[in-house]
Amino acid sequence: MTMKDQDLQVILDAIHAAKTTADVQAVYDTWSTNYDQNLADMGYVAPLNAAKTFYPHHPNHDAKIMDAGCGTGLVGVALKVLGYTTIDGVDLSPEMLAIAQKTNAYQTLSALNFQDANDIPDNTYDAAICVGVLGPVVGGHLIDDLVRIVQPQGIVHFAIRAKWVESVSQPAIERLLAAGKIALVADVRAPYMHGQDAEGAFTTIRKL
Ligand SMILES: C[S@@+](CC[C@H](N)C(=O)[O-])C[C@H]1O[C@@H](n2cnc3c(N)ncnc32)[C@H](O)[C@@H]1O
Repeated sequence: MTMKDQDLQVILDAIHAAKTTADVQAVYDTWSTNYDQNLADMGYVAPLNAAKTFYPHHPNHDAKIMDAGCGTGLVGVALKVLGYTTIDGVDLSPEMLAIAQKTNAYQTLSALNFQDANDIPDNTYDAAICVGVLGPVVGGHLIDDLVRIVQPQGIVHFAIRAKWVESVSQPAIERLLAAGKIALVADVRAPYMHGQDAEGAFTTIRKL
């Protein structure tokens, strides 16, 4: 393991050990300047595959899209390449947002903690996309918030590591289906990150 790998492992361990949103924000603020390079080195293809699996369900390029947990803007850039013009990004970390600003992929960028997601009015977006955020730290309740902020018939599309589906996203999806709040549109397995243990679930739901 090189020194660089060790540094990266320290960051990944800190994310998994984070107990509060302040801890999470501190890690991402610190990581922001190396994030894109580190993720490229790790073969992080989730943003690209999320944009590709989102496109068939919302091909209208003028769609008003929320990128929740946009980080440095990798998802916004992938969506922009596909022709999307109206993307807002929100993220906990002002330093990650400062990098996203430089991509010119977003109409607006705002610092926001999802746990205070009431800041975003109900039924505001045509679609919401969320990549690399759901997991043991940010749980399935985030899917409820994303459903709340899209319009009826709006799309929520998220990418999560396949190994966390059963414990994190599946219970939330089943609960929302049982409540008649959503329909499941698609659930595609594709690479999340190249290498071992790196399959992703790219899930599309529609608000009813
Ligand atoms: C692994 S990064 C993914 C960023 C981007 N979507 C991507 O795929 O590169 C996770 C992002 O979620 C953000 N995040 C984590 N918890 C959050 C919360 N409670 N509210 C808002 N953003 C949060 C972090 O600041 C970080 O930028």
